Amino acid sequence: MAGKLYGIGVGPGDSGLVTLKARRILDRCDIIAYPVKVPGEGSVAFDIVRPIVDMEGKRIEEFVFSMDPDDSVRMNCRSKAIDRMCALLDQGNDIAMVTLGDVGVYSTYMYIDQEIRERGYETDIVPGIPSFCHGASVAGLPLMIGNEGLAIVPVAKENSQLLGNSLDNFDNIVVMKAFKSIPMIAKMMDERGIDRSKATVISNVGMPGEYVGPMDLTREYGYFTTVLIKKR
Ligand SMILES: C[S@@+](CC[C@H](N)C(=O)[O-])C[C@H]1O[C@@H](n2cnc3c(N)ncnc32)[C@H](O)[C@@H]1O
Repeated sequence: MAGKLYGIGVGPGDSGLVTLKARRILDRCDIIAYPVKVPGEGSVAFDIVRPIVDMEGKRIEEFVFSMDPDDSVRMNCRSKAIDRMCALLDQGNDIAMVTLGDVGVYSTYMYIDQEIRERGYETDIVPGIPSFCHGASVAGLPLMIGNEGLAIVPVAKENSQLLGNSLDNFDNIVVMKAFKSIPMIAKMMDERGIDRSKATVISNVGMPGEYVGPMDLTREYGYFTTVLIKKR
């Protein structure tokens, strides 16, 4: 009988935030898998579960999902990863693919779940705590309250319009993938008369080098950086 594929959200960094359900499935799966952009780069999601899961007798497998700007390179790589995953499922292995934070929030796993199901295999998604939920709790801030709304947007120079629309229309904005864009976010807030003190940077939450505080334009931020803007 073919194995089952699980997409497991492991939370944003602190192993204590991995859910009991995630841990139970990870403990009993034959293979723990994680996505990488380039071979051998390692996985923060795997590092989160390594100390709390029984690794005895388990196979650990990396799957390469290229981020090459060329669509055909990315598709080819994805299709090779899916073929290999199906071969492992055919051998009867249950596979748990770990993903940082929650599975539904910008995760590689969602690119493969549908295709694996369409090929006739069983899959299951186990949610995890998203980084911005943990960040808001560390900052002691509500994401939204009463009748307020929340926009969650990624940011980069080429898609600043999405952030602009959100700043114009929402009380609360979570800006993801913000690491290179802190000065741009500050400028866009200035242009709209939104005081910079309304922004909280959430960087490396639950990881070494955690920073949760005001926008400091002199500071360098790594990839795991999110900004929470609360206009009220
Ligand atoms: C590819 S997305 C993954 C999001 C993840 N699935 C989640 O639920 O948070 C990567 C972005 O998530 C945010 N992120 C992930 N982990 C984080 C952490 N520990 N601290 C702050 N932001 C984090 C950052 O905005 C980062 O650029």
